[in-house]
Amino acid sequence: MPEVLFEDMSVEFPGPRGQAPRRAVSDLNLRVKDQEFVCLLGPSGCGKSTALNVVAGFLQPTSGTMLVGGKPVKGPNPDRGVVFQDANIFPWLSVEENAMFGPLLRERKSAKLRDRAREMIERVGLQGFEQHLPLELSGGMRQRVGLARTLINDPSVLLMDEPFGALDAQTRILMQELLLELWERDRKTVIFVTHDINEALLLGDRVVVMSASPGRVKEVVEVDLPRPRSFDVTDEPQFIEMRKHLMEELHSESEKAEGLKTP
Ligand SMILES: Nc1ncnc2c1ncn2[C@@H]1O[C@H](COP(=O)(O)OP(=O)(O)O)[C@@H](O)[C@H]1O
Ligand SMILES: [Mg+2]
Repeated sequence: MPEVLFEDMSVEFPGPRGQAPRRAVSDLNLRVKDQEFVCLLGPSGCGKSTALNVVAGFLQPTSGTMLVGGKPVKGPNPDRGVVFQDANIFPWLSVEENAMFGPLLRERKSAKLRDRAREMIERVGLQGFEQHLPLELSGGMRQRVGLARTLINDPSVLLMDEPFGALDAQTRILMQELLLELWERDRKTVIFVTHDINEALLLGDRVVVMSASPGRVKEVVEVDLPRPRSFDVTDEPQFIEMRKHLMEELHSESEKAEGLKTP
């Protein structure tokens, strides 16, 4: 699995009606190691999605560089799988057809492909729902389809942008545990964006705290908790200690983001 390297990376968006450009990410420096699970944590608007979208190939840096496996990224590629908050699935296709969608753009429909789709569906715990339409599924199940759809491409880098943000608390925990299980299996390089401290600490090898707009790295916390992890780890004194620290960090960044404190 390749590493992802941001070097002094900045991203600007054009300002409204001829105004000066707006910096969404400013001089981001970060090395996400091969097979590492890194969580980007920060207040809304600090540039988390922007940074992720550069890795996905949806955006180009305005200055500095971002390299995947030592190379700049030219555009989106199934080798860098993306999962968003609203599961990227088609409502008119069945679970199985959704799971096969990516590969079908590149290869013919075959028994082998169908087997692969079935395997992915099983891996995300949706066996028995192959022929269901997304409308017939719960939010958590739809997000599982989204995961199957991305994982069938066997990406070497997995990019997740608040994928469980719209789910209720219980479903969210189930999805986090599923993701941990999937990751233990083939340890992809993962960049996971969230504004949820518990989620970041439960999942990540490191938590990168981003400062309020324009986003840059404020602090990096090594999450030294044993793996494989489950939700039980959230009761550990070490977890509670790290959570307290991150809450203070995030609180001060959110105040800045809301204009309550001068940066
Ligand atoms: N396509 C765009 N055009 C103009 N401004 C944008 C665009 N995308 C994001 N921004 C701005 O960049 C900043 C960072 O946005 P984003 O990366 O979405 O933050 P986050 O994901 O941390 O909430 C915000 O101020 C947002 O309004
Ligand atoms: Mg975002």
